[in-house]
Amino acid sequence: MKTAILIWLTLQNSIHTLLIRYSRAREVDAMFVSTVAVWLTEVIKCVICLFLVAQEETPRRFVHALKTQILEQPYDTMKVCIPAMIYIVQNNLFYVAASHLDAATFMITSQLKIFTAAIFTVIILRRSLNRTQWFALAVLFAGVSLVQLQGTKSKEIAGESPFIGFVAVVVACCLSGFAGIYFEKILKGSAPVSLWMRNVQMAVFAIPSSFLAIYMQDAKTVNEYGLLYGFDSIVWLTVLWYGIGGLSVAVCIKYADNIAKNFATSVAIVLSTIGSMFLFDFIPSLTFLLGAALVIFSIFLYSSHQSMVAALSRLRGEIPSTKEAFCL
Ligand code: C5P
Repeated sequence: MKTAILIWLTLQNSIHTLLIRYSRAREVDAMFVSTVAVWLTEVIKCVICLFLVAQEETPRRFVHALKTQILEQPYDTMKVCIPAMIYIVQNNLFYVAASHLDAATFMITSQLKIFTAAIFTVIILRRSLNRTQWFALAVLFAGVSLVQLQGTKSKEIAGESPFIGFVAVVVACCLSGFAGIYFEKILKGSAPVSLWMRNVQMAVFAIPSSFLAIYMQDAKTVNEYGLLYGFDSIVWLTVLWYGIGGLSVAVCIKYADNIAKNFATSVAIVLSTIGSMFLFDFIPSLTFLLGAALVIFSIFLYSSHQSMVAALSRLRGEIPSTKEAFCL
């Protein structure tokens, strides 16, 4: 199961980065409104999750389950409100970042999320990180900064703003780290509600709030040209793929662990860099390669310690709890 998730997330992640960048960077007469794309992604995820919940129940029990687990448990439903809202802001920011950074830089800088998750583990779950892991954090920041140097040069020519892209990624990664930990805590630590039902609960907040974001940010364009302005097959594919990616992350949080996710995304960096070379004539500089190598090295350094501790615990006959394994 873990291997399957690992391979799937790697492929999903690399294609996702290339698609989102391609959808924003290509030259078209009508550029789609990204807030609409985020809203439609939430709608698609909700439809898929409702379908999956329906598969587990008979039609009568399906309606009953929705009633009892969503409407009649407002407190439990409210719990997912925070990650749902944060994910909406994060998803919008990732579109901003993809509009200003090339695919490889976008992918690499977004690896900061692994470490923001670690920091939130310390702050929220009150666990400590050892020296190797803090060192890995420092290496990551060095790597991301080097990658950013290349981004600054190439973007000035392209007329985009790598600074805006970089700020968007950093904020999105902080939100991602927080929301990921929070969602994991809810999923594994509270009432036994299925993963798909949790996502339906999230959609109760995510769909209206992402719709509101359209009118807060892009009311003029949407009023003038309609919601689906600029939507062609590439945009629909990006929206669908983003939705599938979100649900894959949810499955990963439930069935696998951070190590699997880290490995998947670091392999995806390499794949998307190769993809960028073919698709966007991206020529990596020496600085970029060094930065990318440091980022990947830091992820392996961080994850190898996790695997080592888990393996040692197993040897000693101790089975770390999910929470412990995650925090280690
Ligand atoms: O890990 P990362 O921050 O990249 O993943 C976040 C993505 O996964 C967001 O697009 C979010 O909407 C999606 N997600 C989801 N359902 C969950 C958890 C995350 O759709 N239960």
